Amino acid sequence: MASQLFRLILLHRWQWRLGILLLSFLSALFGILGPYIQKHFIDSLLSVPSKDLFGFESQLSPFLLMLIALCFLLLSQGVGFIANYIGMKESILSQQILSKKLYEKTMTLHPDSLQGKTVGEMVSLYATDVMGATIFLEQSLPIGAATLFPLILAPLALHLLFEIPLTQVLLTMGVIIFINSYLALRQSKFFTRFKQLAADRLGLVNEWILNIKSLKVMGWIDAFETKIHAMRVKETTNRVAMVTNGQTMNSISSTATFIINIVAITVLVNHHQSQVTPGELLSLLWILGVFLSRPFRQLPWFFTFGFDGWTSLKRIGHFLQLQNQGREWPHGVSADETNTETEGPSIEVQNLNLKIGKEHLLKNINFSIKQKEFVAIVGEVGSGKSLLLLSLIGETGASMDVYRINHRNILSASHQELCRHFAYVPQEGFVMSATLRDNIAFDYDVNSKMDSRIYHCLELSQLNLDQEPFPERLDTEIGERGVNLSGGQKQRVNIARADFYDCPVILLDDSLSALDVNTEAQVMQSLLKGRWAHKTRILTTHRLSALKEVDRIFFLEDGEILAQGTLNELLQSSIKFKYFIETHQSTEKSKVSHEVEN
Ligand SMILES: Nc1ncnc2c1ncn2[C@@H]1O[C@H](COP(=O)(O)OP(=O)(O)OP(=O)(O)O)[C@@H](O)[C@H]1O
Ligand SMILES: [Mg+2]
Repeated sequence: MASQLFRLILLHRWQWRLGILLLSFLSALFGILGPYIQKHFIDSLLSVPSKDLFGFESQLSPFLLMLIALCFLLLSQGVGFIANYIGMKESILSQQILSKKLYEKTMTLHPDSLQGKTVGEMVSLYATDVMGATIFLEQSLPIGAATLFPLILAPLALHLLFEIPLTQVLLTMGVIIFINSYLALRQSKFFTRFKQLAADRLGLVNEWILNIKSLKVMGWIDAFETKIHAMRVKETTNRVAMVTNGQTMNSISSTATFIINIVAITVLVNHHQSQVTPGELLSLLWILGVFLSRPFRQLPWFFTFGFDGWTSLKRIGHFLQLQNQGREWPHGVSADETNTETEGPSIEVQNLNLKIGKEHLLKNINFSIKQKEFVAIVGEVGSGKSLLLLSLIGETGASMDVYRINHRNILSASHQELCRHFAYVPQEGFVMSATLRDNIAFDYDVNSKMDSRIYHCLELSQLNLDQEPFPERLDTEIGERGVNLSGGQKQRVNIARADFYDCPVILLDDSLSALDVNTEAQVMQSLLKGRWAHKTRILTTHRLSALKEVDRIFFLEDGEILAQGTLNELLQSSIKFKYFIETHQSTEKSKVSHEVEN
């Protein structure tokens, strides 16, 4: 996968990438021709014979030679600049491609398929790896080529112009390149660790911020801070090692040209004895001190970013390879097919199964729910109630032989279309850090003309803005994850949202659990038995009082529907259900009497 992504980044818009290579080569060529003409300029000024490569250079006037040398050097800089500019633009384009791929994957992946990836890891994929991976373009192409071509052209020029034996120069350069690449490999390891540690810390800090209220109550704040501090210590140690290694790399690369200077001048003088011309000496110093200094400075970073980019590509590749467990929702239903219902849906499910890892969590579930029917799903804690609701909205990857809504096979519908049938209220409620209005209407450019509708939804869900702490009414800012709301308020915000979206099927996952008995009864009358009476309603619940209100009950045990029917039917037909009701009744009674006594 990483090599596929590498090819994609490198070969996408290949004409531009080839252009970068050509421009970089031209830049290097002009860069080496500059000092060569300079040599002729100095030698012609001093009237010293100078060796021609092209056969006419020594016949040109010093003034003309000076102009040509200047032109070459300016061209070298200018063309190199254009190559860099294109490289950066291409790099940003590649970042867009990678981000889009990551985003699409993130949107289709179910939470249970993340294989334990923390929020921090996910953030670091977007924040650092996308840039890390495309640094290949910024570094490998323009800078890489600007490094590579001079490193090839310089020894050739030294050999052709000054007859310096290639072996000596190549040997010295080889040693420097070897040391640099070794240090760069080390540096990239520090970089990778740096990213991992930052991702871990981000994940932990995220948990800390989101759960600060509960952590405080549990007395875990100090433990959390100690943990975060320990992580910072690890990060600092790694950073110190990284900086030290980087400094060593920098100092080796900046002294590299000095070392080669000495080697080349010694070889040149020994080789030519007294015949070295002043022009030759000056252009030699230019080639080694200027032309080669940039590539040597950049060489270690080229290697570092190369290694680092590769690890980023591997991390992105690994994420893109994650697959949803179970069946994928197929895509590709046309918009025309989506609104064929006229009478609201009936739901039919056959042979629904869900396996996560080795656990068979939902087993051979079959049911059919009529239009406008009100169904309650009950069962012990962990029996699979929430997973069943989530499976209906395609969030678990459960497999099914038949899944029809309003007699239409929904298995071939897109995930987006499937979700359009349902208003789903999750067990914990979902509240985001935004105004109350945005939390209900869930749209960042909600029109204030909708306010009256929002108020009505809130009224039906029994969230009275005059009595509850909403000083700015719909404009009240709700803190991160609703920290300034009570559990019951959060649930009512979620219920109001479900009402606002007016979908044909309402799925409530224990959504009345945090309401007091009176408020629950009011919501039941105003919405579930009131405004939603014409909708299909499925409610999971632990409250026995709700069971008297529903048309049918599904009794779940260990991922299986053990029995289904009305309350009376089930009490008569299922001993297990009767036992379940009796134990829950006694628990509820003892809870109430305990509360009364206290
Ligand atoms: N993502 C997951 N990966 C693995 N196991 C899971 C996952 N989600 C739920 N489970 C397991 O599946 C079983 C059913 O979970 P589910 O949340 O549906 O129970 P529930 O009936 O809704 O319980 P409760 O009454 O507490 O809400 C539990 O044993 C739970 O541990
Ligand atoms: Mg549940």
